[in-house]
Amino acid sequence: MKFKKALITGITGQDGSYLAEFLLKKKYIVHGIKRKSSSFNTSRIDHIYENKTYNNKFFLHYGDLLDSNSLTNLISKIQPDEIYNFAAQSHVGVSFQLPNYTSQVNSIGALNLLHAIYDCGLAKKTKFYQASTSELYGEIQETKQSEKTKFYPKSPYATSKLFAYWISKNYRESYEMFASNGILFNHESPRRGETFVTRKITLGLSKIVYGLEKCLYLGNLYSLRDWGHARDYVEMCWKVLQYKKPDDFVIATEKQYSVKFFVEQCFKYLDIKIKWQGKGLKEYAKIVHFDIKKYPLLKKNMKIVKISKNYFRPNEVNNLIGNANKAKRLLKWKPKINIHQLIKEMMDTDLELTRKSNLK
Ligand code: NAP
Ligand code: GDD
Repeated sequence: MKFKKALITGITGQDGSYLAEFLLKKKYIVHGIKRKSSSFNTSRIDHIYENKTYNNKFFLHYGDLLDSNSLTNLISKIQPDEIYNFAAQSHVGVSFQLPNYTSQVNSIGALNLLHAIYDCGLAKKTKFYQASTSELYGEIQETKQSEKTKFYPKSPYATSKLFAYWISKNYRESYEMFASNGILFNHESPRRGETFVTRKITLGLSKIVYGLEKCLYLGNLYSLRDWGHARDYVEMCWKVLQYKKPDDFVIATEKQYSVKFFVEQCFKYLDIKIKWQGKGLKEYAKIVHFDIKKYPLLKKNMKIVKISKNYFRPNEVNNLIGNANKAKRLLKWKPKINIHQLIKEMMDTDLELTRKSNLK
């Protein structure tokens, strides 16, 4: 039996790790590109590498989206059936500080990959998935954003992803390449990077509960997002490449919540009552009720969440919510995990992680 071969860039990231697990279960041979770093960057995939079931099915290679030689060499050697381009400088806030680097990796990186496929003579064989983003909508032009909504990127990150979106379409139309964009709205998990807001909240509150930190500092509490689960969404990335033709799809839960709501739900899960006071940069949450036996290190009236201007962006995307009708209709998909299940999984994992690290 001939197994399909997939190549994943960004395999060491949140989505790459879930997609690798998903494809291996589907009997793919999975190759991943990891970049050179001075310390280990494979913690999200070590469990796959160490799993004997996946001996000779899971391979990691050094490479970098900015090193086109590495991409051409790997693609010509592997001859993948599918490539998922997940690699990126993916932090919107950081992209204002690293605009040039972000643009290189996210824009030219995608082009390097597409052109490597073309140069290897695989334009008609290898399907290409581009990790596009709801950040493309930025200053929203429609209440719910669909594939037809006009883009208005508001950060170097979003602008770099706009190039990647269009260059993928361009290679589709110019060379009949099967190149598709998944326009994914925010998706989170216990594997989310620690500086993205949901993970920052679940990990930050866990550390406070265990006495390792005293306060969680956040930026814009009123920002609205459509949050799904990464494990759910990688299945969609795969479905996008199984569709009968290359196309672009919005993937979203179609539900929207504020950062403040996310914080409140985490406290609710922990069974700690808080009260918000103040306005703007002076807004804060203090603890009004909790079980001292359960949380001996907390104190009543303790200011547990404060606002810091350091976490505001020069240009904020305030309001995102997707319209995923096309994906539901054509790919027969709907999200399986709601925000409360997501919060439970993230809180449980971070509480356990913090408990263990506290024992060391
Ligand atoms: P992530 O956790 O930040 O992972 C990014 C991955 O890219 C990491 O494996 C990183 O390697 C790798 N990478 C960065 N620069 C690279 C380079 N120059 N060459 C090769 N690899 C490089 O991101 P994610 O949340 O999994 O998101 C996956 C993709 O979907 C990204 O392109 C992101 O922009 C996009 N996206 C994400 C969301 C979301 O809500 N998560 C929504 C829409 C679109 P290291 O581990 O070494 O840092
Ligand atoms: N990171 C962060 N840290 N964000 C905060 C904070 C904070 O302390 N306080 C408030 N926020 C707000 C941000 O200003 C933003 O409006 C919202 O919380 C979500 O921020 P992030 O979790 O950093 O995600 P993002 O929406 O900017 O970007 C993510 O989703 C995009 C899809 O819409 C990233 O994964 C991007 O790569 C992805 O394309």
